[in-house]
Amino acid sequence: MRTKLFKFAFIVGLAILVSSCAREETPTDSLKGALDGKFLIGTALNSIQIYGDDSAATEIIVRNFNSIVAENCMKSEIIQPEEGVFDFRQSDAMVDFGVAYDMYIVGHCLIWHSQAPDWLFMDAGGKYVSREVLIERMKTHITTLVERYKGRVDAWIVVNEAFLDDGSWRNSRFYDIIGPAYIELAFQFAHEADPKAELLYNDNSMFHEGKRNSVVELVNDLKSKGIRIDGVGMQAHSGLDSIPPLDEFEKSIEAFDAAGVDVHVTELDITVIPLLSRDIGAEVSADFKYWEMMDPYPNGLPDSVSIALHDRYMEFFDLFLRQHDKIKRVTVWGLTDDQSWRNYWPIQGRTDYPLLYDRNYDAKPVVADIIKAAQSLEE
Ligand code: G3I
Repeated sequence: MRTKLFKFAFIVGLAILVSSCAREETPTDSLKGALDGKFLIGTALNSIQIYGDDSAATEIIVRNFNSIVAENCMKSEIIQPEEGVFDFRQSDAMVDFGVAYDMYIVGHCLIWHSQAPDWLFMDAGGKYVSREVLIERMKTHITTLVERYKGRVDAWIVVNEAFLDDGSWRNSRFYDIIGPAYIELAFQFAHEADPKAELLYNDNSMFHEGKRNSVVELVNDLKSKGIRIDGVGMQAHSGLDSIPPLDEFEKSIEAFDAAGVDVHVTELDITVIPLLSRDIGAEVSADFKYWEMMDPYPNGLPDSVSIALHDRYMEFFDLFLRQHDKIKRVTVWGLTDDQSWRNYWPIQGRTDYPLLYDRNYDAKPVVADIIKAAQSLEE
């Protein structure tokens, strides 16, 4: 109890200190300071960070980022593991954190085929529920979350990953039971629950032409029906070389902007260890056995790879800065290398280096270079 009280007092104290400094001046040598006026810069929080158990991480986050999203705790199987049983402990703490530091808070995610609990789709006899029942359950889930955080969560990822790379529909249980209308229903329910919240569609591998076209079509379709959609989230789980090809990624930024929605780069990280196939994207259902050649840098990165990682990050940020008038937010999927999902997916126990801060919580040199690039844009 005393530890909890201490943590709470620490977070409140730090919030007061930082917000009073922040009101006076955002440090220009921070990511958020340098990128101010271009786009929001965000990070995904894990449980330890949400609860303020990692004060070194809190300091970096508060100094450098003006947007947060929960990496896991708002997913349906975590927040509503059984019908009608909601666990808001972490999500409440996440939203309190964002409010305390005056951040742009993103809810991730209301409807996603993955990490959805089985009960959502099943009846008592173990058969799939009817369309009507699933719509009702979807409505309850969305309404409960969005109303709870009304006026505090700025934007919701309403639907995540509804399309395959070629642009065809993913045969998720939502799609199979409800049909394509599940997307517009989800957006409607979210809008009814908080008419002021921004509503986003989010997907991976958005550089694929087929997916780009389907997402543009979806935006146009929702708009033509008068259904609110504010933005498209482009996940950016990337590799050092070809994934994603930046020219195609840029075409998608331009296409979504031309469709009249905000572009959010939602999940940026750059793996330096082998992907198992060219198009592995971010599908989380795979689970491969660990073997040594797949974990080439357990004791540190050779200089040549550090430089390649640095250059690849700069290519991304040069693109984001060039297109900053079309981009509302860039969010990195995690803070420090040791905490990234890349270390445990699709193989457990590897050592990856995909983020902006290393295992000692030191900023990689690329952070200073991003700041410089952003500052030089003004000159
Ligand atoms: O919390 C349990 C822990 O109790 C247990 O001991 C441990 C054993 O493996 O698992 C822990 O849960 C893991 C959880 O992350 C928290 O670390 C899950 O197994 C693991 O599957 C889960 O992975 C998350 C994954 O989504 C699936 O939800 C990653 O952290 C998260 O980074 C990743 O994020 C997704 C986005 O939501 C959507 N886009 C793709 C992106 C990357 O896959």
